[in-house]
Amino acid sequence: MSGTILLTGPNGGIGVGFVTQLLKSPYAITHSAIYAVRDPEKALALKAALKNAPKGHKYLILPVDFESLASTRAFAADVNSRVKSGSLPPIQALILNAGVQDLVIEKFTKDGMERTFQINYLANFQLTLLLLKSMDKQHGRIIYISSTAADPNWGSNGRNYTEDQKRTIVTSVENMSRGVEEFPDGSVFRTGQRRYALSKLLLGGWMYEIQRRLDGDSKLSNISVLGHDPGWIGGTSIIRNGPFLVKALFVILRIIGFINSFFSANSLVRTIYRNGSDLLRVCFDQKAFGEYPKALYIDGSVLYHTPKEAQDVEMQKRLWKESLVCAGIKEGDTVLENWK
Ligand SMILES: NC(=O)c1ccc[n+]([C@@H]2O[C@H](COP(=O)([O-])OP(=O)(O)OC[C@H]3O[C@@H](n4cnc5c(N)ncnc54)[C@H](OP(=O)(O)O)[C@@H]3O)[C@@H](O)[C@H]2O)c1
Repeated sequence: MSGTILLTGPNGGIGVGFVTQLLKSPYAITHSAIYAVRDPEKALALKAALKNAPKGHKYLILPVDFESLASTRAFAADVNSRVKSGSLPPIQALILNAGVQDLVIEKFTKDGMERTFQINYLANFQLTLLLLKSMDKQHGRIIYISSTAADPNWGSNGRNYTEDQKRTIVTSVENMSRGVEEFPDGSVFRTGQRRYALSKLLLGGWMYEIQRRLDGDSKLSNISVLGHDPGWIGGTSIIRNGPFLVKALFVILRIIGFINSFFSANSLVRTIYRNGSDLLRVCFDQKAFGEYPKALYIDGSVLYHTPKEAQDVEMQKRLWKESLVCAGIKEGDTVLENWK
């Protein structure tokens, strides 16, 4: 087997954990890699990890800013032209890992959208459709990175919602892209958690809809779409826009993750390296999840399920249609037959 592995957010904690495990695996040589970063000059953690690359690891570090629909589109066009020219093999694993969580401030993108919505959800929707022409048609896998936060009924997540808010989590794409309107109770921290949770919940709904459309496509039906929940991983930068106490918790989680890695097979608190190995299996393993693992959701290394709020088929269809408009997808952008 050969192919390209495209990883977004490779300069962050989870990204570096994946790259580290990739470089120790046979795929470092059999496969090419595209590392999609915000700024190649500043991708220092990624470059440090790549110092351990085996001789023969072929990779490109390419720029993209998922806060911008135009930048995402330009990045996809660059990748597509490289695959079309044969300078890169088709993409076998597209890992949608880049993400943000704004807990002390609400930020808006260059396109005027609330940025958790755009970076964590809409950019992935857009990028995937644009890149389908470059996917490996036999064994391509598209993997989004989820979170325990996605389920409003998981653990203590419920305290972030009133019962009414739980019932109305997924509204129109236009509303959700504006961010604040849905969360009127004034707590920046809780609204930030809900915005983050929402972005991951939407990816769950998207997974089912795109998988159905791929399954019905004459050329793309072997492509799999999967969700991967990394559990809780301290020491990453995801809470860089979070309160001091959450940052302190992330330091403690890093230590707990390290201890857990000696004792527990699939603990809630993990390390970036443990997660890197799990994610590598989600990309390539054909035994645990089958040769064509369609719309599966994996928690660490174990088959799990999306939140029930992501499983509403009517919601998935509406989300798809409205996201097409919001992401500016037009005729000729995607090879998916039934894209409208
Ligand atoms: N850590 C956890 O406990 C946890 C749990 C569940 C899910 N996750 C998910 O795991 C993924 C990775 O998170 P992490 O914990 O590794 O956090 P992280 O260290 O902050 O990594 C996030 C990565 O996303 C990139 N990114 C952010 N905004 C971007 C943009 N506009 N354009 C391009 N790239 C952008 C960052 O780029 P820069 O390097 O340029 O900043 C960074 O490399 C996220 O999707 C997160 O939601 C994390």
